[in-house]
Amino acid sequence: MSSPITPASRAPNAGPNIIRVVAADAEGGPRFASLSYRGDPSAMAAAQDRCRRTCTASDGKLVAVVVALREITGANREAVLALGVAPGQERFVSSVRGALREAAEYPQAKPWYRAVYAGDEPVGFVMLSWNVEPQPPEINGPWFLWKLLIDQRHQGRGYGLEVVRHIAELVHAQGATELLTSYVPAADGPAGFYQRLGFVPTGKLDPQGEVIMRLPLPWTPTAGHPAT
Ligand SMILES: CC(C)(COP(=O)(O)OP(=O)(O)OC[C@H]1O[C@@H](n2cnc3c(N)ncnc32)[C@H](O)[C@@H]1OP(=O)(O)O)[C@@H](O)C(=O)NCCC(=O)NCCS
Repeated sequence: MSSPITPASRAPNAGPNIIRVVAADAEGGPRFASLSYRGDPSAMAAAQDRCRRTCTASDGKLVAVVVALREITGANREAVLALGVAPGQERFVSSVRGALREAAEYPQAKPWYRAVYAGDEPVGFVMLSWNVEPQPPEINGPWFLWKLLIDQRHQGRGYGLEVVRHIAELVHAQGATELLTSYVPAADGPAGFYQRLGFVPTGKLDPQGEVIMRLPLPWTPTAGHPAT
């Protein structure tokens, strides 16, 4: 195992990959258990082995699904840029390309981002304001979930939940007591997703009219999704 990630002491988008193992049934159905691993990709095989062993003890049909946050490099950039949400969802989140452009345009918002992987396949993208000095209403923080998207082909499999859970653990380890986010209010929007995870409205709107929510940390099982 490599040393635990310490993003605050590194350049924002440097540092090791972050690996999380989730047990699912063979159809990608209900989640039964999860184990966290932080390290380089070589830790993945060991993580999968351990999860498989753990899970097959209770249910022989279980297989390991690994949700990992990986750096975006020249090797995976095009594949990550190709990810996209479903038609009609573009009004809830920008494209990956648009998010990377915003990250470059607003360094004062301290962008930190990763590609989301399920096993070896890129399935999504996440970007935070990482321990930023709040300058409301434009910059909210210190810890703000700025972008989250799961590719349309991979939605509804628990990946979004695992990413938020993972981010919550990561920032709490850095001293965060809450994770903020905002969403576009719409009947078919992501409000229910965030509520399901335990986010609560702060009562404030951002200048674009997005509803600002907060997730108290540490994330306890009773605050959001039941422990898996
Ligand atoms: C919103 C999004 C990130 C959720 O990711 P996901 O992987 O599809 O969601 P999950 O499978 O992890 O869902 C976790 C839980 O939230 C629920 N959920 C997911 N999307 C939901 C929605 N739009 N409304 C209500 N509940 C929702 C799921 O039913 C699940 O609940 P369960 O555990 O009781 O079954 C993803 O659908 C997405 O990228 N949407 C388009 C872009 C977007 O809106 N991003 C957010 C910008 S603020």
